[in-house]
Amino acid sequence: MIGKNIILIGFMGTGKSSVGKRLAKKMNYNFIDTDAYIEELEGKKISDIFNEKGEEYFRKLETKVVKDLSHKLEGYVVATGGGLPLRRANQRPLRNMGTVIYLKSSENTIYQRLKYDTTRPLLQGDNPKEKIHKILKQREPIYRRVCHRYIKTDNRSFEQIVEEIEGYINEITRNQRTKH
Ligand code: S3P
Repeated sequence: MIGKNIILIGFMGTGKSSVGKRLAKKMNYNFIDTDAYIEELEGKKISDIFNEKGEEYFRKLETKVVKDLSHKLEGYVVATGGGLPLRRANQRPLRNMGTVIYLKSSENTIYQRLKYDTTRPLLQGDNPKEKIHKILKQREPIYRRVCHRYIKTDNRSFEQIVEEIEGYINEITRNQRTKH
């Protein structure tokens, strides 16, 4: 299953969608973003879903989407919402879907990227820096456990990250070929 799709996980603002789109283009894969998929499904922006229906409703949608997609996709780069790998029910389907790559950024990089962002409900209100610190601390061990490989993104361009992922995927594919 490992080479079927490439799944990008990681905190908000680590570049999952930006890297994912470029990676898909370079490797001739299709691209899908779970947040965009949910927005389309609901006909609403993520922040409106959170405001009107609450976070729990959104998390249930994420679980449904992962289950649906895990049976369907082949040859896709999948960018996931930052909270999607947290639920146990989502973890196995994610890994079954393909190679899971964690885009790992430091707190400071994330803060610099998101300090003026208004689209992430979890970071709105006072002291986004403190919020990032707390949430990242909770999530870091989970991202590490769920991924097959992590890639550091600080001070690196999207293109450099894409190349590293591509190299890793090619290596896996070569190894699988020699085994068979
Ligand atoms: C969330 C991350 C967001 C989006 C929602 C919740 C999270 O996606 O799914 O705001 O819990 O980390 P991005 O990681 O694409 O920002």
